[in-house]
Amino acid sequence: MTQTKSYAKSQILLHWLMAVVVFGLFGVGFWMVDLTYYSEWYRIAPHWHQSVGFMLALAWVARIVLLRIHGKPSPLESHKPAEIRAAHFTHALLYLLMLCLFISGYLISTADGRAIAIFNWFELPGLGELFAEQADIAGTVHQYAAYGLIALVVIHAAGALKHHLIDKDDTLNRILGRTKPQPSNYDQEQ
Ligand code: HEM
Ligand code: HEM
Repeated sequence: MTQTKSYAKSQILLHWLMAVVVFGLFGVGFWMVDLTYYSEWYRIAPHWHQSVGFMLALAWVARIVLLRIHGKPSPLESHKPAEIRAAHFTHALLYLLMLCLFISGYLISTADGRAIAIFNWFELPGLGELFAEQADIAGTVHQYAAYGLIALVVIHAAGALKHHLIDKDDTLNRILGRTKPQPSNYDQEQ
């Protein structure tokens, strides 16, 4: 993979947009499963959850394409080899858990043969029940994948803060699109 000095603006934008959407979907998902038939949100909340989830899946594909095109910034001098390995593993697992949520979410929503209406804009065709107890099994996978993703994001964010506050390096600045100004020749002469 190409090694660069910083993330491209499009990668930074997608990272933070997707982070906000993931937290939003988690909150809505957690809340909507306890709604009763008599709630006005009973149908609307899953509709929004599925539609926004589908958009997130498109953003996920775009992000993989951008990663192929722009590559990733090379590790900083302050990054220890074990930290580099742990970060690679975490990033791959974050992508994998999101993929798992898209697939399991699709399998729950289409188990009864219905299509998924994306924002009343178009319909994503359903493939029906592909295996026995599909809705239940996919529901359990979806639930654990969602909890696992949020737990991993917390660790991921803690790692970013450790780099920023303890190591005082540019790891977090790189994904915020602001790298510290380099010391000028004048500063170095002082
Ligand atoms: C749902 C939330 C999040 C997800 C799914 C996520 C996912 C990722 C992924 C996959 C990468 C690897 C770069 C790439 O492939 O684009 C990355 C990089 C990064 N993320 Fe997140 N992230 C989330 C939230 C956060 C938060 C809350 C913070 C910090 C407070 C953060 C800080 C960083 C930093 C500093 C990097 C760059 C790491 C490096 O250059 O080695 N992320 N994130
Ligand atoms: C990162 C993306 C997503 C996150 C974080 C997420 C999160 C959640 C959470 C936390 C729940 C509640 C689980 C429970 O406590 O039982 C849930 C339920 C659900 N999600 Fe998602 N979800 C995502 C994407 C999707 C997508 C793409 C779809 C469909 C295309 C979808 C369809 C559903 C459905 C149908 C339920 C209800 C399951 C049930 O009734 O047991 N989700 N989601």
